[in-house]
Amino acid sequence: MANLNLTVVFLLLSSLGIIKLTSCNEDNQTNVNVKCIHTEREALLSFKRGLTDPSGRLSSWIGEDCCQWRGVECNNQSGHVTKLHLQNPYRYPYPYEFYYIYPIIEYQKSCLRGEISSSLTHLKYLNYLDLSSNDFEGIQVPEFFGNLKNLRYLNVSLANFSGEIPPHLGNLSSLIHLDLHYNNDMHATNLGWLSSLSSLKYLDLGEFNLSRAGADWLHAVNMLPSLLELHLSGCELESLPPSLPFINSTSLFVLDLSENQFNSSILQWLLNLTSLTKLDLSSNSFQGSIPYDFVNLRNLEHLDLSSNQITGQLPSFCGNLCKLETLDLSGNKFCGNIDELFGNSTACLNNSLESLDLSFNELVGNIPDSLGRLGSLRYLFLYHNSFSGSIPASIGNLSSLQELDLYHNKMNGTIPESFGQLSKLVHLYLDGNFWEGVITEAQLMNLTSLEYFMLTTDKNQSLVFNVTYNWVPPFRLKYLQLDKCLIGPKFPIWLQVQSELIYLALTNAGISDAIPEEWVSKVSELTTLDLSYNQIIGKLSHRFIFPNVSFIDLSYNRFNGPIPLSTFPSEQSAFRGAPPSWD
Ligand SMILES: *[C@@H]1O[C@H](CO)[C@@H](O)[C@H](O)[C@H]1NC(C)=O
Ligand SMILES: *[C@@H]1O[C@H](CO)[C@@H](O)[C@H](O)[C@H]1NC(C)=O
Ligand SMILES: *[C@@H]1O[C@H](CO)[C@@H](O)[C@H](O)[C@H]1NC(C)=O
Ligand SMILES: *[C@@H]1O[C@H](CO)[C@@H](O)[C@H](O)[C@H]1NC(C)=O
Ligand SMILES: *[C@@H]1O[C@H](CO)[C@@H](O)[C@H](O)[C@H]1NC(C)=O
Ligand SMILES: *[C@@H]1O[C@H](CO)[C@@H](O)[C@H](O)[C@H]1NC(C)=O
Ligand SMILES: *[C@@H]1O[C@H](CO)[C@@H](O)[C@H](O)[C@H]1NC(C)=O
Ligand SMILES: *[C@@H]1O[C@H](CO)[C@@H](O)[C@H](O)[C@H]1NC(C)=O
Ligand SMILES: *[C@@H]1O[C@H](CO)[C@@H](O)[C@H](O)[C@H]1NC(C)=O
Ligand SMILES: *[C@@H]1O[C@H](CO)[C@@H](O)[C@H](O)[C@H]1NC(C)=O
Ligand SMILES: *[C@@H]1O[C@H](CO)[C@@H](O)[C@H](O)[C@H]1NC(C)=O
Ligand SMILES: *[C@@H]1O[C@H](CO)[C@@H](O)[C@H](O)[C@H]1NC(C)=O
Repeated sequence: MANLNLTVVFLLLSSLGIIKLTSCNEDNQTNVNVKCIHTEREALLSFKRGLTDPSGRLSSWIGEDCCQWRGVECNNQSGHVTKLHLQNPYRYPYPYEFYYIYPIIEYQKSCLRGEISSSLTHLKYLNYLDLSSNDFEGIQVPEFFGNLKNLRYLNVSLANFSGEIPPHLGNLSSLIHLDLHYNNDMHATNLGWLSSLSSLKYLDLGEFNLSRAGADWLHAVNMLPSLLELHLSGCELESLPPSLPFINSTSLFVLDLSENQFNSSILQWLLNLTSLTKLDLSSNSFQGSIPYDFVNLRNLEHLDLSSNQITGQLPSFCGNLCKLETLDLSGNKFCGNIDELFGNSTACLNNSLESLDLSFNELVGNIPDSLGRLGSLRYLFLYHNSFSGSIPASIGNLSSLQELDLYHNKMNGTIPESFGQLSKLVHLYLDGNFWEGVITEAQLMNLTSLEYFMLTTDKNQSLVFNVTYNWVPPFRLKYLQLDKCLIGPKFPIWLQVQSELIYLALTNAGISDAIPEEWVSKVSELTTLDLSYNQIIGKLSHRFIFPNVSFIDLSYNRFNGPIPLSTFPSEQSAFRGAPPSWD
């Protein structure tokens, strides 16, 4: 269960990571010594009058020289307005982020709203228009955008437009980037106009309801000879034709068809897109096994087939996709073992693969020694399968490994000594298995980066920590769970030096020592403490204070004396100290 919480924490951090609080385009204009054109200045002012701007993003739109206004860029010789960078500097908060930390107030405050004046059509030289991440409150994308003949870049994504997309956009024959993704209930019944956009390289219609467009989208898109990136995630698409007469978009680099309702097998003609570097078919209902012709996609760097209904053995060709960096096959029905996956000794995958996710499948057997060949691997997710046996000794060769997740398998062997070489490892989840054998200093020796260490075994105390009492480890953990591993009888130094713990669970660990008071006073950040089912002795001193604790379980030990009330600061703390063995 701790795993679940960690996933949340990870989501939280990763969303923090992509939040940008400044816009890179708004401040770096170089409009030296050009004066703007009078009629264009009037057009901009008229455009501004139609908008509401509660945070004053357009407050610099005063004075004569519109080329100095924030978000406006002019040609530095002719003085014509060429670019409008009007995206909200705060990124749109996707629904799943609402619950976390997103500064939604700031985002809402700095949205532009209101009407989009057709005075924009007076900006005859406009080639770049970015209105993304604002809130146009469900109005339609204006038809007159089709008259902005010089547009090369149009971004109205995340801007709360709705309704039918105007076919007038088909007049924008110079358009290279068209991004309409994630608007409020936008749809298209006919996409024929798309095929006139002969310069188009980038198209994103993500979250568009294309269910009424039938198979039009594919024919329209297939007419675009320059297309490099196509994003059609979450478009309510249901079917792909079993065959195509021709493929025009052979230069396609990126194809994202995730989160639709495709339920066919993976079609042969998709595999003719041999330029693809990124293919995302995740979160559909694709069926059948992976065709061998996948091996033709030799330029693939990112392949995501997660959350489908794909069956059969894992493909053996992966070893020949020499540029593959991320491979996500999680959440399918793959079965059998993974001996073939990494290819034989002539395979080239060893150079590139950084992230491998096979979680939530039906895989069995041992983890092969050839794993050690994936020298660039940073993330390895194998949880929720039925792997058994030991971790292969070759794992010590994965010197870049940062996260290893084997949670919830049937691993019934040992953890090799070479494990102790994984100096980059931060996250280690080995809980929910049947480990055997002995952990000594060797397995922990150089784990200098380790912060999350979950290792539980369902076979009582079948895994023994035989670590010298005085040994001081190189890591300072935040999360530690070692339920049912034999650690005692003493409370060893390698635990006593862990002063940064937030989560500690050591149930059924054979500890019959007293808890050292100095250690207790160091771990004041603990939110969870579970020491139940040991034989721990002694009194709970006044130092037993954990201001942030929300769960504490000391039951089934041999503590004596009174319980200091200060141990449990808030009424929310769940305390299970029920003393069957409390004298
Ligand atoms: C004018 O713009 C061109 C093209 O963007 C650029 O190469 C040039 O350096 C600019 N000149 C000045 C004086 O900013
Ligand atoms: C469009 O704007 C959004 C939000 O500002 C941004 O994330 C996206 O990358 C832009 N699209 C293109 C093609 O630049
Ligand atoms: C979008 O527009 C609708 C009105 O059509 C409004 O109710 C909603 O609050 C707006 N904003 C978002 C983020 O949906
Ligand atoms: C622009 O597109 C619309 C709709 O497709 C069409 O009716 C109109 O004639 C086009 N205008 C020009 C100038 O091409
Ligand atoms: C998408 O459009 C179809 C056809 O009009 C409709 O039945 C469906 O409910 C729409 N989907 C959503 C999520 O609005
Ligand atoms: C590819 O699309 C163009 C129009 O964009 C069309 O003229 C051409 O015939 C198409 N290629 C094939 C092989 O059909
Ligand atoms: C896919 O490639 C094969 C082999 O090059 C070719 O025979 C076939 O016609 C292609 N299919 C399409 C739809 O282009
Ligand atoms: C795919 O979905 C369609 C429509 O929902 C359904 O009629 C068809 O039987 C499904 N095909 C398979 C192979 O499940
Ligand atoms: C190893 O893989 C290569 C390339 O796929 C293949 O040609 C060769 O037959 C394989 N060798 C063995 C022993 O499996
Ligand atoms: C990857 O494997 C190939 C073939 O076995 C070998 O030539 C190459 O040196 C290996 N590269 C790395 C970085 O291990
Ligand atoms: C990989 O690990 C194995 C087993 O520990 C070892 O014999 C081998 O020398 C290692 N290979 C490299 C390239 O480090
Ligand atoms: C581990 O589990 C596998 C698969 O269930 C079994 O074949 C093997 O005998 C077990 N090994 C041990 C040491 O229990």
